[in-house]
Amino acid sequence: MRILVLGSGAREHAIVTSLLAEASAHEITAAPGNAGIAAVVPIVALDPTRKDVVTEYALDNDIELVIIGPEAPLVAGVADALRQRGIAVFGPGKAAAALEGSKTFAKRIMDAAGVPTGAATRAGTLEEAVGAIDEYGAPYVVKADGLAAGKGVLVTPDRDAAIAHASFWLAQGPVLVEEYLAGQEVSLFLLSDGHTVLPLSPAQDYKRIFDGDEGPNTGGMGAYSPLPWLDEGFVDEVIDTIALPTVRQLASERTPFIGLLYCGLIVTRKGIRVIEFNARFGDPETQVVLPRLITPLSGLLHAAATGELGSMPRPEFSDEVAVTVVLASEGYPDDPVTGRVISGLDEVRDVTVAHAATALVDGKYVATGGRVLSVVATGPDFASARGKAYAALETIHLEGGQYRTDIALRVAE
Ligand code: AMP
Ligand code: GLY
Repeated sequence: MRILVLGSGAREHAIVTSLLAEASAHEITAAPGNAGIAAVVPIVALDPTRKDVVTEYALDNDIELVIIGPEAPLVAGVADALRQRGIAVFGPGKAAAALEGSKTFAKRIMDAAGVPTGAATRAGTLEEAVGAIDEYGAPYVVKADGLAAGKGVLVTPDRDAAIAHASFWLAQGPVLVEEYLAGQEVSLFLLSDGHTVLPLSPAQDYKRIFDGDEGPNTGGMGAYSPLPWLDEGFVDEVIDTIALPTVRQLASERTPFIGLLYCGLIVTRKGIRVIEFNARFGDPETQVVLPRLITPLSGLLHAAATGELGSMPRPEFSDEVAVTVVLASEGYPDDPVTGRVISGLDEVRDVTVAHAATALVDGKYVATGGRVLSVVATGPDFASARGKAYAALETIHLEGGQYRTDIALRVAE
């Protein structure tokens, strides 16, 4: 198949790696990609959020499947434009992508579909926000309504900080104040063709920057899969009570969801609750889910893109476990230092490295953003996978680089 992967992160590198590992050979191009992706497939310097540019490229190059990695092209309507021209695309149209792009829209869909989620109040003024903050009480949860690259959410016991966060984001639009939900978090990805869903394997993301879940939220500092502590019926319950009702609600509103429904869940004492939906593969969860996938990824994504998931069996996963640890630049998430050389990448063993913000400058890899790369290790158990991942991180050097040391520690005996 001729496949175009849009995006430039570790998630897209992991997608490309899985496609390359399939038994059948594909012609894969990534746009714009990064230095790690460029080492394995051709990359094209085009803006993935420009629907005219992407569509023209796909038509000119007889692309048979476009896989959209990040949210920005989805929200920009790139999937709609491709679909209009008859190109198979894995990724929802602009209207359905609002499930991620607008927390208010997501809450409305959940209400209409009867999907369990925490109570929330939308506030357009500081007065309303403070009222809701005091109504729900501590710990406080305040969220920007639109896309904020993982930085729009504050969970804090500090009322003043909650109010300051609301005040900051209110300059850009409404904020949501939410009921705090206590419990373990689960990311579950479901492929959707607009009518039916097929689940991938659950993963757990580490959102805070520092060990012990301290410090600010980030895009994700590490992940592991599977989750040995989940109840056996967990995935089926999410399908029945969350994913299918959501997909059906969107279909009934003529905004079918074709792509990856990312369910961000908390397992509370009262049951499973949705904290967020995303309209795309999660990063870094993808880096631990895809290496365990046995069923060829391209067939699954193509079936979703063409409305044929109903005829596919559930994706199969290996018994191996996977751990990924993100190496971030000094100063991430607030103000990452970029331009520093990354060394030691040639010396790592027993892991794969998914590049995120890297560029090749004068033959050397250089960090170009906050989350620089993900080290991915698999193994028969979490202790061995962790051992490999952290050994590789000792070998890789980035001045001021930071990574969490407790990824998957809770599941490693
Ligand atoms: P979100 O971007 O909505 O996924 O939020 C980022 C992170 O903030 C989540 O992964 C949770 O760790 C935390 N969070 C968000 N909403 C809540 C909530 N209602 N209760 C507890 N923690 C939350
Ligand atoms: N890891 C969280 C996300 O992709 O949104």
